[in-house]
Amino acid sequence: MTEKISVLLSEEEVDARIKEIGEQISRDYEGKQVHLICVLKGGSFFMCELAKRITVPVSLDFMSVSSYGSETKSSGVVKIVKDLDEPLNGKHVIVIEDIVDSGRTLSYLLAMLKDRGPESISLCTLLDKPERRVVDVHVDYTGFQIPDKFVVGYGLDYGQKYRNLPYIGTVEFE
Ligand code: IMP
Ligand code: MG
Repeated sequence: MTEKISVLLSEEEVDARIKEIGEQISRDYEGKQVHLICVLKGGSFFMCELAKRITVPVSLDFMSVSSYGSETKSSGVVKIVKDLDEPLNGKHVIVIEDIVDSGRTLSYLLAMLKDRGPESISLCTLLDKPERRVVDVHVDYTGFQIPDKFVVGYGLDYGQKYRNLPYIGTVEFE
């Protein structure tokens, strides 16, 4: 089976929106320092671009979780593959994700991170597929709401491919 990728959100649209979110975060956290947590691997491209647009002091940490399931669906069982390097006590944490789909991964992750005593915690996702939500998660910053289609690019993969596309594309299977 081969895949055909069609542009859903162009590089220019994505970059412009990330700039806006960066400005919004900079206003919302004025006078504070933010601690960005990148959920690997998908969130990495978004976090780097976003961090460059934030004008308040920023620190970064990374975490990797895997949700067991097929390539296009998560099962709800989440395993920590790589934990954070630093504690969260007293920090203004912003979790950076590529996409919120069923919400299972994020609801598990947020509950776990809240237990580590951050001063505040919010969620920032590049993409949101609200139609697919199974578990309720509060998203503070959303890049784009998209329809229920499988997408790749800007960190998102299909079978580990296409993360490096500078735009968001939909995948059709031929
Ligand atoms: P959730 O637990 O169902 O919200 O799944 C979230 C994770 O599934 C994301 O962090 C992605 O890694 C993956 N995912 C969900 N939808 C897509 C998609 O359209 N393309 C690529 N990965 C996706
Ligand atoms: Mg992800």
